[in-house]
Amino acid sequence: MAMRIQKTWMVWGLFLLSVSSAFAQHVVLGRVDSFRALPSGIEIQSGEGLVCIRSLRDDVLRITASPSSTLPDEGSWAVLPASRDSRFGVTPFSDSSFVGFDTPLLHVRVRRDPLEIEIEDAQGHTLLANSQPMRYFPDDSKGDAGFRVWMHMPAAEHFFGLGEQAGPLDRRGNAYTLWNTDAYRWQGGTNPLYDSIPFFLTDTAGVSYGLYLDNTWRSEFDFGKALRSQFSFGAEGGPLDYYFLYGPAPKKVVEDYAWLTGTAPLPPRWALGFQQSRYSYGTEQELRGVADRLRSGRIPSDVLYMDIAYQVKNRPFTVDATKFPGFPGFVEELKRKHFHVVLITDLHIAYLPNDDYAPFNSGEAGNHFLHNPDGSLYVGPVWPGPSVFPDFTQQATRRWWGTLYKTFYGEGVSGFWNDMNEPSVFNSTTKTIPLDVVGQIEGPGFQTRTVTQREIHNIMGMLNSRGTDEGLLRLKPNQRPFVLTRATFAGGQRYAATWTGDNSSSWSHLRLSTPMLESLGLCGFYMAGDDIGGYAGSPSMDLLTKWIEVGSFNPIERDHTEIGSNPQEPWVGGPEQEAIRRHFIDQRYRLLPYFYTTAEEASRTGIPIMRPLFLEFPDATPDRSPLDLTAGNEFLFGPDLLVAPPPYPDEVQSYAVTFPPVPWYDYWTGRLVTKAAPAPRSATGAQGRAAGESEAPLKPAPVQTVTVQPTLATLPVYVRGGSLVPMQPLVQSTGQTPQGPLELRVYPGPDCRGSLYQDDGTTFDYRHGDYLRVDYSCQSGPDRLTLNIGAQEGTYPAWWKSIDIAVYNWPSAQAHVRLNGQVLSGSTYDAANHVLHVRIPQSTASRIVVVTTGGAAG
Ligand code: NOJ
Repeated sequence: MAMRIQKTWMVWGLFLLSVSSAFAQHVVLGRVDSFRALPSGIEIQSGEGLVCIRSLRDDVLRITASPSSTLPDEGSWAVLPASRDSRFGVTPFSDSSFVGFDTPLLHVRVRRDPLEIEIEDAQGHTLLANSQPMRYFPDDSKGDAGFRVWMHMPAAEHFFGLGEQAGPLDRRGNAYTLWNTDAYRWQGGTNPLYDSIPFFLTDTAGVSYGLYLDNTWRSEFDFGKALRSQFSFGAEGGPLDYYFLYGPAPKKVVEDYAWLTGTAPLPPRWALGFQQSRYSYGTEQELRGVADRLRSGRIPSDVLYMDIAYQVKNRPFTVDATKFPGFPGFVEELKRKHFHVVLITDLHIAYLPNDDYAPFNSGEAGNHFLHNPDGSLYVGPVWPGPSVFPDFTQQATRRWWGTLYKTFYGEGVSGFWNDMNEPSVFNSTTKTIPLDVVGQIEGPGFQTRTVTQREIHNIMGMLNSRGTDEGLLRLKPNQRPFVLTRATFAGGQRYAATWTGDNSSSWSHLRLSTPMLESLGLCGFYMAGDDIGGYAGSPSMDLLTKWIEVGSFNPIERDHTEIGSNPQEPWVGGPEQEAIRRHFIDQRYRLLPYFYTTAEEASRTGIPIMRPLFLEFPDATPDRSPLDLTAGNEFLFGPDLLVAPPPYPDEVQSYAVTFPPVPWYDYWTGRLVTKAAPAPRSATGAQGRAAGESEAPLKPAPVQTVTVQPTLATLPVYVRGGSLVPMQPLVQSTGQTPQGPLELRVYPGPDCRGSLYQDDGTTFDYRHGDYLRVDYSCQSGPDRLTLNIGAQEGTYPAWWKSIDIAVYNWPSAQAHVRLNGQVLSGSTYDAANHVLHVRIPQSTASRIVVVTTGGAAG
């Protein structure tokens, strides 16, 4: 007993000693000792340390701090140089309590003692405020200074972002570590996962700002978990360097973040098609069978994936000729069948020093692999057995990596899948490369220096996909690359799409997927998907069906599963299940004009394809709290389609669909399902739908609901009243030219708008004017509808010769139609669903179509 007490005291003694010695070295930037006004901000001396706040625009600030006299100013992997270098002139001020500056939109003040930063909007509302001074925590063993920053957290503040996290969309009440991790069979609440995106945006009663921490080290964000009324963030090393992005609309914050870190480029159109995968289709015959079955079953599809089984002993950049004897010819054959092949090429390279394995030999010759601290090659086991790992922080390594794609890309492979790039290492407790493994940073914007995994672990995946993307662009400069990466970091959207890794075949995973994909979209990854049907395990046939239904409205729809699981292709389970799944995939293809237009918008603005409701309707509820807090199962597919899967997709009881306060139509029948409500106050800031409306807040209309009964074959989808949705005849792949007219669905309602964007779908010719863009608008009254079709912008020719206009909620068979003033006959009326159909010829000129129930449509 005495012995035990002694031992316990010894442990406590050691603990207290270590705590007190660590505390002795804490640096608190506790008060303003002196300050210097800068043209674009302020620099503050606090003890030995410095704090600098700079205005990059009137609504974007960069805040850096240091415990010493040198502020962090190295290059950034995520922030675009032009954005980082931009400056906005500010008006300084100081008084006995505060120092700071003003921009036309922000009031930035720093309390002198204790040193706390407060940011207010022009109306004097506090947006962000330190709740205590910043602190550094030196780490004795490595000499790296970790830090933490604390902020007040008002009761109504909600937090969104941080990339993929398996849990609720709102991060409030939880804490998250960002450390890229191979998380096979992750579950709800598993953290960390595969990517690190230290960006979040807030919503406090409809007012939003964003915060991006530009730090690649292991970081941590706590939104009121440790301290009930404060949120905090920090990293275990690296720069204290963060950006404040002012809304006030959440959509504007997402655009600001795109300004800061870039947008994902427009993908090839085929990437929007249905994608079929499995670990692994093992032979040419097997994959040909999949392709042929998809075509004979008339299941529209575009992409087939080849997982590691096509390789010789899982070695990246090899092909096993016994299983795929005529590889280039096979890729060509699939292309003729309108399938694009995406090949997996993991980040690691097999360690084969005495072989003629070119990727190892050329990598070794160029000194492209990571090293142990003693200078030997770091070797760790992955799929091929002992493997080495490219040092992607070197530009020369990324360039070398890019050359490895030459043969495959030349043979007609369309895209590449960078997997295992956290990086994943087998048989180790940390699942990754040891922290002391050494690499080198080398390239534009950075000083050449040696680094360890502590600093670069989180960016390995992003830089792996960057090497792939840039390599593909060098090989085929006028072909849009498609790269799918598992691990990534902020800014990684510029190089690759992503997916949510190794989920499971369970109903709860289908449910978890919606907030994960929404979050990725808010963080720039508008091209994101999950493993449809679940990766680990095998789905019931009903689960697979429901997952395909929902996935048909996700940005990437890829059916994928693990080795040894049951067949999971869309035809599995019999003709009834197949028919339902086909029906939903058909809709995805019918919606391609709308879908691709939305993707193009995302590539310019950063506004994602899959959107939480609060992004479009931040003022939808009476207390202006995000609608998604109560309707988390719902999401928007593009600006105008609201998809409402059941909140618990395996349950059979009826549930309420909650609608933002505008009119909504049933997508499937075209019928108006909610009464027209006043348009909400302008919600979208810079590119708001309600431009020109009064800035005074209107009282939001009450939230509307309808009750629906879930069935296996149905998925509630609604269309915003006040939208124009272009659609096309069904095709079996995105490469096929649709046969028949363009369909333009007109859903009358407030602020009625829509647009259509088209191009060749594969090249960059659109950047030189070879695209087609048309804007639509409509005005409606009880007996009258005016549809304006704008003049075509761009030189890309339309595939359609005529346009079928469908006007929803048209009151009667009485319809007098004029096109540019000329009477147009031949309209038809669907009395059951109140839809009027009018066909007009295609033209590149602007047109006005007027429909009235009375005699003179003018
Ligand atoms: C892990 C990936 O997450 C999974 O999708 C893939 O099938 C396996 N690696 C095998 O390559």
